[in-house]
Amino acid sequence: MRIPFIATRPRDYAMEALRLSDSDAVAAIHREDFARPWSGDEFSALLGENTVFGFAARQVGRGDAAPAGFVLARLAAGEAEILTVAVSRTQRRQGLGWRLMDAVLRELHRQRADALFLEVDETNEPALALYRRLGFREVGRRPAYYRAADGRRTGALVMRRDLR
Ligand SMILES: CC(C)(COP(=O)(O)OP(=O)(O)OC[C@H]1O[C@@H](n2cnc3c(N)ncnc32)[C@H](O)[C@@H]1OP(=O)(O)O)[C@@H](O)C(=O)NCCC(=O)NCCS
Repeated sequence: MRIPFIATRPRDYAMEALRLSDSDAVAAIHREDFARPWSGDEFSALLGENTVFGFAARQVGRGDAAPAGFVLARLAAGEAEILTVAVSRTQRRQGLGWRLMDAVLRELHRQRADALFLEVDETNEPALALYRRLGFREVGRRPAYYRAADGRRTGALVMRRDLR
């Protein structure tokens, strides 16, 4: 007797341009982690700026489903910055953060940008590990830059990734 082979495939995601209609869904992901979450209206306003662009991780074949993660970036005068990046807590450690950042890097290469900057909490180990693996290096430090919900202050690292 032949036993049928049943494979469980991991969910497949595509990195697609962020849409204005994603604003509330990405605000919900942002709220999971940030002490000062941005509202849907704030995301809409940013997405309406012509220097701002972003990507959403969307499940393939489910274009109507809420994104599992997103990244928002700004490009002006050849220099770009990551405004924010987050993956829903239940969808982490399956490569989505990497793929979102890679989508930004590809877009910036296409636009012939010179460098990409970001700021990150010096205690945010997952984000620091991701950025270091992507080739970012530390170029500055802002002491006591962030304040957590409990009032604790932590410093920010400024990181840069050369694109040329
Ligand atoms: C940072 C964040 C976006 C990473 O997203 P993710 O989808 O889980 O990351 P990936 O699965 O793509 O991980 C890529 C690499 O980053 C590093 N990394 C990610 N999460 C990590 C963790 N918890 N601990 C250590 N390294 C980690 C690893 O090197 C990982 O590669 P590996 O899985 O092969 O070891 C996610 O943790 C998140 O949304 N955090 C909350 C929001 C946030 O802090 N954003 C950054 C603000 S500056």
